[in-house]
Amino acid sequence: MKNILVVGGAGYIGSHVVKMLDQKGYCPIVFDNLSKGHLAAVQSYPFEQGDIRDRERLNEIFCKYKIEAVMHFAAFIEVAESIQSPSKYYHNNVENVLHLLDCMVENHIPYFVFSSTAATFGEPVQKKIDETHPQHPCNPYGNTKLIVEKMLKDFEKAYGLKSTVLRYFNAAGADDSGEIGESHTPETHLIPIVLQAAAKKRPNVKIFGTDYPTKDGSCIRDFIHVNDLSQAHILALEKMEQENKSDQFNLGSGNGFSVLEIIEKTKQITGVDFKVETAPRRKGDPAILIADSTKAKNVLGWSPRYSLTRIIETAWNWEKNRKY
Ligand SMILES: NC(=O)c1ccc[n+]([C@@H]2O[C@H](COP(=O)([O-])OP(=O)(O)OC[C@H]3O[C@@H](n4cnc5c(N)ncnc54)[C@H](O)[C@@H]3O)[C@@H](O)[C@H]2O)c1
Repeated sequence: MKNILVVGGAGYIGSHVVKMLDQKGYCPIVFDNLSKGHLAAVQSYPFEQGDIRDRERLNEIFCKYKIEAVMHFAAFIEVAESIQSPSKYYHNNVENVLHLLDCMVENHIPYFVFSSTAATFGEPVQKKIDETHPQHPCNPYGNTKLIVEKMLKDFEKAYGLKSTVLRYFNAAGADDSGEIGESHTPETHLIPIVLQAAAKKRPNVKIFGTDYPTKDGSCIRDFIHVNDLSQAHILALEKMEQENKSDQFNLGSGNGFSVLEIIEKTKQITGVDFKVETAPRRKGDPAILIADSTKAKNVLGWSPRYSLTRIIETAWNWEKNRKY
């Protein structure tokens, strides 16, 4: 059984990947400082509390377990906060990753899977964003992720560390079991916010910007189910090991939905009406972000299985019965 260290594994996406790794016969070891994550999300798996800036603690883990690869989810993720407090983002999302990579090299861990983001591309210059699209982030969060992508290229050249960069578009949905799901504080992602309004846990939903050059004036995003992302992680890890080669993939459904469409669809699925307010645009939000994931389909054999309806249904099931 292969030991995979999942840093940030108690968070939203990490915990879903951990569950799928376990189902596929891997042994995921969760490493998380619990600054944002939830122990309840990973209680069936080996858990080590720690911070990736703590090199002593990382070395201890690399000695304790024979780790074959590291998957990284441990980052701060809020675009608006990154604009207000860039230092916090550069420290955690860049400096701390450097500590982790140094420890991996010292301990001869050969493979790294990195959670990157559509935010590394900035304003799109073509309708769908593939891996050849220029990368000009328009906020510090996107900058931090792009810097790590560049560090990974240099680490491969100098130290032979192989990595796969997975650039997610909008992760959404919850595990079908309803046992784990999305739980961020504060929640800044559209689908959980809209569902919290449907569940009467917040008074309304704010639409940030209704004057974008889109069909209804609201932003358009590409939502991809968290279990489809998890499947891509495992396929990417296996491919990297087979071919001993670094690569990058954009992961999305290839379909764009506007904020207004998500609100309408959520009202239909939940059968609940709720208040919607309009607010000015937020800084750092491109009008449209849609992935071209042809490369992941061709190279990894990845095929996303969850429709938008199923994404909202699983997230609604989680929201109504959430455990954390
Ligand atoms: N959620 C999305 O839609 C989305 C989209 C694109 C990319 N991503 C990337 O995916 C990754 C996971 O996102 P998420 O939504 O699951 O976030 P999350 O906040 O739910 O999970 C991050 C986890 O990392 C842990 N963590 C943070 N800093 C740490 C540190 N220094 N040491 C140890 N643990 C630490 C937190 O406690 C948390 O459990 C992030 O890197 C994010 O940038 C997310």
